[in-house]
Amino acid sequence: MLKVGFVGWRGMVGSVLMQRMVEDNDFAGIEPVFFTTSQAGQPGPDIGVDVPPLKDAFDLVELKTLDVIVTCQGGDYTDKVYQDLRQSGWKGYWIDAASTLRMAGESTIVLDPVNRHVIDAQLAKGGKTFVGGNCTVSLMLLGLGGLFEADLIEWMTSMTYQAASGSGAKHMRELLSQMGSLRDSVQHELSNPASAILEIDRKVSQAMRGGDFPIENFGAPLAGGLLPWIDKAMENGQSKEEWKGSVESNKILGRSDNPVPIDGLCVRIGAMRSHSQAFTIKLKRDVPIDEIEDRIAKHNDWVKVIPNDKEATLAGLTPAAVTGTMDIPVGRLRKMAMGGEYLSAFTVGDQLLWGAAEPLKRMLRILRE
Ligand code: HSE
Repeated sequence: MLKVGFVGWRGMVGSVLMQRMVEDNDFAGIEPVFFTTSQAGQPGPDIGVDVPPLKDAFDLVELKTLDVIVTCQGGDYTDKVYQDLRQSGWKGYWIDAASTLRMAGESTIVLDPVNRHVIDAQLAKGGKTFVGGNCTVSLMLLGLGGLFEADLIEWMTSMTYQAASGSGAKHMRELLSQMGSLRDSVQHELSNPASAILEIDRKVSQAMRGGDFPIENFGAPLAGGLLPWIDKAMENGQSKEEWKGSVESNKILGRSDNPVPIDGLCVRIGAMRSHSQAFTIKLKRDVPIDEIEDRIAKHNDWVKVIPNDKEATLAGLTPAAVTGTMDIPVGRLRKMAMGGEYLSAFTVGDQLLWGAAEPLKRMLRILRE
């Protein structure tokens, strides 16, 4: 029975992972040990099986007794512990939600419905480090897996509409506080249907730009607007989030030596936890739209093709429809004005499920096969 240590299980991604593992009875058949950075000795969580008291997440001697470590603690923890643990001779499996090790030569980015062959090849070669991908990348590849599998994509752009959860729990709270502040600034006018809309708009803009508006986490107003920059700057003008779109996708697909060019603009919007993306895809040839739909729909159990009409789109291709589900709807599929090789598509996915927790949960299952 694998002895599996969990670190960072109380945070947002960790909590979603715990919830999904309990739902699927994943704790049966492993020996779970829970770690903490601050509360060693306290009782472990209630997950339906007995667990020992919490252990210190920095105790290398304790960590070395594990067959597998699953961490959602974040990049700082990975920075502090991973190298020392490996250098101490630990040969266990490290499964990580943080981006720190994603592009390291020894790690595999896990998204098994798309790259099970890459994961299996790495396991066969003795690979021990498995990292969850960037959320927009994982959600894009699950949606378009059928087109990548058939090697139909010459290049593509991904224009993202990313939810607050991608920045963290505090940002989700700040988004709601911003929304509340805007509403409160015109409470009186809103209750009067005869009030002037331009006066409401003026007051909302004033509130958004005012010194009291809560922007401590985002650094700018998100509610009522958007933020067209996510993460740090790269030297070529891309944001790091945009850079990841290409390098991580091609690493996941096992084709870093022969990459599909993928680029775009990453934008934060006022959704809570589902990321959306619009794609312009240059196909290698003029593939009929029904073949495209068929390939997309058949690729995995979660992708769903949404008919390109208004009713179906508004019912099934929005954060409101998708959040909290494992569904990966793909819609707005049509050939573009530029010609038959140009495909438009749109997808939405829960950033905390397929975008973060699920690939790690499934990697742990693969190790138990
Ligand atoms: N970097 C992503 C975002 C989340 O900011 O939305 C994690 O992959």
